[in-house]
Amino acid sequence: MDFKSYLQNHQVIVDEYLYKILLLDQGPERQIVEAMRYSIFAGGKRLRPILVFAGGDLIKDGLDRSIFLPFAAAIEMIHTYSLIHDDLPAMDDDDLRRGKPSCHKKFSEGIAILAGDALLTFAFQIMSENGDIPSDVRVKVIKEYSKAAGYHGMVGGQVLDLGAEGKELSIQELGIIHLKKTANLIAAPLLAGSILAGASDAELVNVSEYGINLGHAFQIVDDILDVIGDEKVIGKKVGSDKKKDKVTYPSLCGLDRSRIWAREFNEKAKDALAPFGERAEFLLKLADFVISRSH
Ligand code: IPE
Ligand code: IPE
Ligand code: MG
Ligand code: MG
Ligand code: MG
Repeated sequence: MDFKSYLQNHQVIVDEYLYKILLLDQGPERQIVEAMRYSIFAGGKRLRPILVFAGGDLIKDGLDRSIFLPFAAAIEMIHTYSLIHDDLPAMDDDDLRRGKPSCHKKFSEGIAILAGDALLTFAFQIMSENGDIPSDVRVKVIKEYSKAAGYHGMVGGQVLDLGAEGKELSIQELGIIHLKKTANLIAAPLLAGSILAGASDAELVNVSEYGINLGHAFQIVDDILDVIGDEKVIGKKVGSDKKKDKVTYPSLCGLDRSRIWAREFNEKAKDALAPFGERAEFLLKLADFVISRSH
């Protein structure tokens, strides 16, 4: 399957599955599911869920897509929760997300906080309910997602990100923020897919190395697009980081040096795939796609 079809086909099956599980309730709390669905289906590249399948395919051919689906949907819900909360006035205060009004703009701050909470918890519910996967394997994946999302990972990174507004940081300190707020949540779905496909511990070390470096490259490009992106393409307001006095690669070392950093992380990511030979074809292409993307 070629690169573009792999992306598109998996986006479709993830979306179909999400439609199926995020059912509109008829009760008084119906509004929360509307808000969850609004943010999930507002758009989004579905990069993280695709990484679950790609992590599995790196280890073993032809596994049924249904094995990966709950874990793919779960990571998209965790990611979307992180975006809803990231946009709140108390955080980045962004009114546009995925080309639409942010969740708190469309609904209210209270509903946006709760929609985020509900997506996060529902993610863990679906993973724990998935009876097709042996419970020890399920717990291993759930542990990876918890570490990547919680205070050791994304939440911790968001705390550092907030604390860094208006400060002078070294590139190393900024790297730690990116590792925590973004790279962990990019490595986690790759690890999940690989674990589901029966990867060895040695293979998981390489998968993690690839994912973390891909995550660094991804966030640097996100910061670059915040400066030079097109609002209609990225679906977010350009210049948001500057407005909030965020420390970013472009603010620390300029656009050209930021692009070099992104390429360096991209090279390191690709190096980590060496042991996988031809099986790494898709993920090698994905690494190049991440640094050349316009959205
Ligand atoms: C945005 O992630 C948040 C970052 C970690 C930079 P994406 O760029 O993957 O957002 P969607 O899912 O496509 O909307
Ligand atoms: C977001 O970083 C990381 C998250 C954990 C959500 P940004 O704040 O740069 O992401 P965008 O640009 O709002 O998508
Ligand atoms: Mg942010
Ligand atoms: Mg933000
Ligand atoms: Mg950004």
